Amino acid sequence: MTLTASAGRAADILSRPVSINGLKVANRIAMAPMTRQFSPGGVPGEDVVSYYARRAAAGVGLIVTEGTYVDHASAGDSDRIPRFHGEEQLAGWARVAEAVRAAGGAILPQLWHIGMVRAPGRPPFADAVPVGPSGLRVDGTEGEGRAMTRQDLDDVIGAFARAAADAERIGFHGVELHGAHGYLIDQFLWSRTNRRTDAYGGDPVARTRFAAEVVAAVREAVSPTFPVVLRYSQWKMNAYDERLADTPEQLEAILTPLSEAGVDAFHASTRRYWDPAFDGSDLNLAGWTKKLTGKPVITVGSVGLNEEFTGSFQGRGSSVRGIEDLLDRLERDEFDLVAVGRALLQDPEWAAKVLSGRFTDLSPYDAESLKSLS
Ligand SMILES: Cc1cc2nc3c(=O)[nH]c(=O)nc-3n(C[C@H](O)[C@H](O)[C@H](O)COP(=O)(O)O)c2cc1C
Repeated sequence: MTLTASAGRAADILSRPVSINGLKVANRIAMAPMTRQFSPGGVPGEDVVSYYARRAAAGVGLIVTEGTYVDHASAGDSDRIPRFHGEEQLAGWARVAEAVRAAGGAILPQLWHIGMVRAPGRPPFADAVPVGPSGLRVDGTEGEGRAMTRQDLDDVIGAFARAAADAERIGFHGVELHGAHGYLIDQFLWSRTNRRTDAYGGDPVARTRFAAEVVAAVREAVSPTFPVVLRYSQWKMNAYDERLADTPEQLEAILTPLSEAGVDAFHASTRRYWDPAFDGSDLNLAGWTKKLTGKPVITVGSVGLNEEFTGSFQGRGSSVRGIEDLLDRLERDEFDLVAVGRALLQDPEWAAKVLSGRFTDLSPYDAESLKSLS
């Protein structure tokens, strides 16, 4: 593949607007959600405001923020990850949304509950007991935590709904629910971590019930045109080859109730967008998601880079990769938007460079870029 797409072709394909429910996104470039841990006390400050605004000003059509904890004491395990509840925290987020809007972008907070990934005793609420569908950690072992009771289910569903209502109230353009990577919502979807024998466990439809109830409660809490995006994945943190679904039929059993509950767009998280999701077809997971649900879909995974993202936590970088094959897939309407992670960490101007055909100005990814919020 040539490294440089023709300037005009990239602009033609990526510059087309796209709608997600009532939101018109200016182009096809999204920023992938990336936890940065630069929000002491869970409050996003002015450095976080300018970090996102800079990327919107440089042409990113849709920003998905780093994961931000919903209002449930067990939702997180860091005091430097922003929270989406509390007066000061929401005031910080309102400034983020306002700055991105002023720069011409659209922005969704990624609403997050980590479930049994939480280690006991960790901040921001040290006494909070880790909870999950069955009290199991992502590796399937018994964790120090417990299976969620009816009350826990209601509390967490309510917390997601409140966060979504707050997002609309303080100026965000929609919300993304973090249903991926082995965190709480995904712990329900996945048979290894969900061993429940009540209505929330068992076959794929039952395992999807919790996620669908979260979606329905969120949908109910916001205006009908306010976009609700759901991110999901096959892979789990520390279990990268695990899968929710082995066949398109199994995937359909999970996606259909979510779609019917009110998801406006799916964000299919993969590590390489060029990997086929199932044997016998070139479609990636986003492509299958669009085919099975008919909803707009965001793809992600190593856009503009040769190496996938997990190495970046061990300090590994990546060389630049051409995007011709990505443009081919977009042109075929395999998916609707393209989320960019590390390339946008490395270079706030990535979208502007790609949209104006300055491909030779793109730099390789250096994991040093994780160390600051530039
Ligand atoms: C530093 C870092 C933090 C991340 N944090 C999140 C997160 O909070 N929520 C999430 O859904 N994915 C998270 N991811 C995954 C990214 O959204 C994205 O899917 C992944 O980096 C692949 O995209 P890329 O190859 O363009 O970097 C994170 C990735 C990185 C590198």
